[in-house]
Amino acid sequence: MTSNIKLATIIGFLFSLIGLNHLSAQTVWIDQLDLSTVTQGYGMPGKNKSVDGKVLTIGGKTFERGFGTHAESSLFILLNKKAIDFTAQVGIDDEVIGHEPAAEFVVYGDGRKLWSSGVMRLGDAAKLCSVPLAGVEKIELAVTDGGNGNYYDHADWANAKFQAIDVNTFITTNPVASKPYILTPPPSAKPRINGASVFGVRPGSPFLFRVPATGVRPMSFSAAGLPSGLKIDSKTGIITGKLSKAGTSIVTLVAKNAEGKSEKKLRIVCGSQIALTPPMGWNSWNCFAGEVSAEKVRRAAEAMVKSGLINHGWNYINIDDYWQNNRDSKDQTLRGMFRDKAGNIVPNSRFGNMKVLADYVHGLGLKIGIYSSPGPWTCGGCAGSYGHEKQDAQSYAKWGFDYLKYDWCSYGGVINGMPDNDPHKVSSLSFQGGDNLPIAVKPYKLMGEYLRQQPRDIVYSLCQYGMSDVWTWGGSIGGNSWRTTNDITDAWASVRNIVLAQDKAAAWAKPGNWNDPDMLVIGTVGWGDPHPSRLKPDEQYLHFSLWCLFSAPLLIGCDMEKFDDFTLNLLTNDEVIAIDQDPLGKEATCVQSIGDLRIYVKELEDGSHAVGFCNFGLETVDLSYKDFDKLGITGQQMVRDLWRQKNIGSINTSNDELKLKVPVHGVLLYKFISKK
Ligand code: GAL
Repeated sequence: MTSNIKLATIIGFLFSLIGLNHLSAQTVWIDQLDLSTVTQGYGMPGKNKSVDGKVLTIGGKTFERGFGTHAESSLFILLNKKAIDFTAQVGIDDEVIGHEPAAEFVVYGDGRKLWSSGVMRLGDAAKLCSVPLAGVEKIELAVTDGGNGNYYDHADWANAKFQAIDVNTFITTNPVASKPYILTPPPSAKPRINGASVFGVRPGSPFLFRVPATGVRPMSFSAAGLPSGLKIDSKTGIITGKLSKAGTSIVTLVAKNAEGKSEKKLRIVCGSQIALTPPMGWNSWNCFAGEVSAEKVRRAAEAMVKSGLINHGWNYINIDDYWQNNRDSKDQTLRGMFRDKAGNIVPNSRFGNMKVLADYVHGLGLKIGIYSSPGPWTCGGCAGSYGHEKQDAQSYAKWGFDYLKYDWCSYGGVINGMPDNDPHKVSSLSFQGGDNLPIAVKPYKLMGEYLRQQPRDIVYSLCQYGMSDVWTWGGSIGGNSWRTTNDITDAWASVRNIVLAQDKAAAWAKPGNWNDPDMLVIGTVGWGDPHPSRLKPDEQYLHFSLWCLFSAPLLIGCDMEKFDDFTLNLLTNDEVIAIDQDPLGKEATCVQSIGDLRIYVKELEDGSHAVGFCNFGLETVDLSYKDFDKLGITGQQMVRDLWRQKNIGSINTSNDELKLKVPVHGVLLYKFISKK
């Protein structure tokens, strides 16, 4: 017998085992399938192309056909038991030369691991993946991050194809539902005062607080018990002025319209601490990246007002990188002197007069933030603050800024004695020294001191990606928040990995000191290449709920002029936002896991508990829950669904069970209110 005949006999035998011996094998190439269902860590799935749209190339060898993706990646295909086998040549695409990707290719059949490549690196020759599939219903082609994060993990399934007995039944699928659905009920026409119930200010600093209230306009505002030095504008609800002495005042805010009246207590704490609840606002990076301009910032501020977000407590408009001049850009609007003769930082020509911009944003009742690096260059290669920290803090204050994000970027070069380093190399230098505590603390302490010397309150946001356990010391050097992780992207794997890394920092969160798991990747995002967030609707509900449970700064990263109904709805649920803004300032941790269901609990100031039942798995969670003691919840409780703003019912935690149905990658966010 020739080997071909032998093979045919084996296949025939396999077919006869599964009762399919009347058909013969055909080929289905992976590029013949709909790849839009792929979930991946970055970019779009490439058909016969790499994730960067180039010819598939592994270890110097090119391939005409296949699927180019990026870790973490997952593609589900329903085979209906019609596949004989799957073969591919897998490896890291050569297009990421100069970086250090590592990824592992894994094939699952009906949930069982059938094959794995082991960790593959750049330059490795393509590995043959060959997996028999007789009897398999569903296959998953997965690429994991190889253990070092998913940076530059451009992963190719080259020559990927199935031998099949019926090519027409293969369907790609994704277990995460993709239809947006609205949960937040629309606000009432009657006034409702939303937002934080505590506000911190330092003696002598300009005071700016706009009463956030929903309800039809016109609306009039008043505030009983305002300490002397403050006044409220009855038409806009904006409170301004200055407090000269430390102390706490309880103010009763009142909003009235034709439909009725709303009252809410606001505790004004004049002392050394600001950001007593996590900052809520917008940041330019995730949508505009290097394309930001004063005009875009102005329009973002207007959109925050027009969209009504301002009525739910959203109030910071933060400029990220690229308001300064750039060292290498060919774009003339970014070219110019970095500093004037006296050493003062000079904004680029897209921004011009920063004070005019800040005044405009303040005039809307909003606050404004700015960005810099302790190194000589920002991550984008614009002028940083190195050697000019004091002057820069003074400039920000003079212009009227209320918030500074201070991003490590090229500071690694300073440590290595290369303060003038090339911004393009900063990524490889950026972490050096960041794990040595005194070195890591020094530049942040310095800027913290200068900020506190300014005659206005400037929220200090540290961005050094969580190095040196920043949560353990960030507060002591004046930081109000600190990034706990590297940059987020609008990919499920990114959000999941960030979430799973938060618990270790949770104990350090408190009023004035917040762990920052990075910005919200909802709405139209794209770092200069706008697209709707690739997180599915349930993933977005989960993302927003967890950020609120974490007491995280809530920074919208999307283009606010492009809000769709779903995104706006996601950002305007006052009962959900109240969890983030709870004055006790605790951060939820995962207190129980049941399979892929992770249960996060946050203790609230009024003694109630916010609980997130979070499904990280690929099957709907359907269960009757009764372990309330594990959550620290006892006695008779009213259970309220916060997204739907609806009471579910009263339960006795010692006898009753709670029926839970949590969608794939979704959440149930409940509040348990003790009934005395
Ligand atoms: C990164 C930072 C981002 C953004 C960017 C600007 O290091 O984590 O959030 O600020 O720099 O270049």
